[in-house]
Amino acid sequence: MNILVTGGAGFIGSNFLYHILEAYPTYTVVNLDKLTYAGNLENLEGLKENTRHMFVKGDIANRNVVESILRDHAIDAIVNFAAESHVDRSIMGAAEFAQTNVVGTNVLLELAKELRLKKFVQVSTDEVYGSLGPEGLFTETTPLHPNSPYAATKAAADLLALAYHHTFSIPVVITRCSNNYGPFQFPEKLIPLMIANAMQEKPLPVYGDGLNVRDWLHVSDHCSAIDAVLHGGTAGEVYNIGGNSEKTNIELVKLLLKILGKSESLITFVKDRPGHDRRYAIDSNKIQKELGWTPAHTFERGIEETIMWYLRHQDWWQRIISGEYKEYYQKMYEGR
Ligand code: NAD
Ligand code: DAU
Repeated sequence: MNILVTGGAGFIGSNFLYHILEAYPTYTVVNLDKLTYAGNLENLEGLKENTRHMFVKGDIANRNVVESILRDHAIDAIVNFAAESHVDRSIMGAAEFAQTNVVGTNVLLELAKELRLKKFVQVSTDEVYGSLGPEGLFTETTPLHPNSPYAATKAAADLLALAYHHTFSIPVVITRCSNNYGPFQFPEKLIPLMIANAMQEKPLPVYGDGLNVRDWLHVSDHCSAIDAVLHGGTAGEVYNIGGNSEKTNIELVKLLLKILGKSESLITFVKDRPGHDRRYAIDSNKIQKELGWTPAHTFERGIEETIMWYLRHQDWWQRIISGEYKEYYQKMYEGR
């Protein structure tokens, strides 16, 4: 199979490339990535010698670029990771979110229709369902209720994808996953941000009362779920993916500090994120029953391995946080 993976220089996309190229020795993958602030070619160092991986710098919203790749490489399937992915940045300004997440996805769908691709996996998120109270889980039939600009653009892309399936029979499948953690996550996100700050003895900024709940899944388990959906998912269907591992933010931050041997006095409660979703939790029964997927990592093992990875790869995140990230961090956190 020849696959176009978009956003493969980011966190989940790069992990997926390692997964798919190792799992399927005959597959070739073209990786189209715009290299925004979140795209990092260092994530792909381990693929330098792999002739079945081709990197193309470009924008998914650029029809000509995407069309040439699809034709020149006889692409069978698209796995669309490319997105603006950070909720806080979408609150600062959402134009790029609408452009990439909605317009860009539409370009891919349009070309999938014209070139009759065999599969289109739209990598979406549990955030499209909005926020839960203390009880209950998101299922695939939970109504969409996106609350942040980021989530709204992801929901729009999901609806477009489903409409292309309904109207043109494009073999679209959608995955909606909970919060990922693991290697190569950009340090604006909770876990790597807290690890990097703790390592530098800097304050750990916990939003609001710290009691918001997220369900955590190791990125390699998300990748195996996308693999299952790419190969076995039914066109027109949505598959929820979760880790069955709910944690309040404060509980998680305290656990990170404990494993790192750092003091809880580094924790600083800061002004809450506007519109902050209280709780996400996922019912993954459908993918488990229909496609036989189960996560391989327990949270306890996964988080220890992840912390060790960030300790061993300090040069990776130090290079990021010493660049334009500094400016972002100042804008987002100073005086908060
Ligand atoms: P990320 O921000 O780490 O990576 C996004 C990648 O997309 C970057 O390499 C960036 O350069 C690229 N990109 C952005 N705009 C582009 C464009 N116009 N054209 C081509 N490339 C572009 O994001 P991530 O955390 O790896 O998330 C990947 C996908 O998974 C996203 O669609 C996100 O919505 C979804 N998702 C993420 C999580 C999570 O916990 N991180 C959970 C569920 C779903
Ligand atoms: O649920 C899936 C989603 O998970 C993905 O669709 C998004 O792309 C991904 O970014 C993530 O969104 P969140 O907003 O849940 O992740 P983030 O790491 O930004 O925040 C996790 C929780 O931690 C959230 O409740 C906000 C809180 N937080 C975050 C940061 C960055 C803090 O308390 N302090 C912080 O500095």
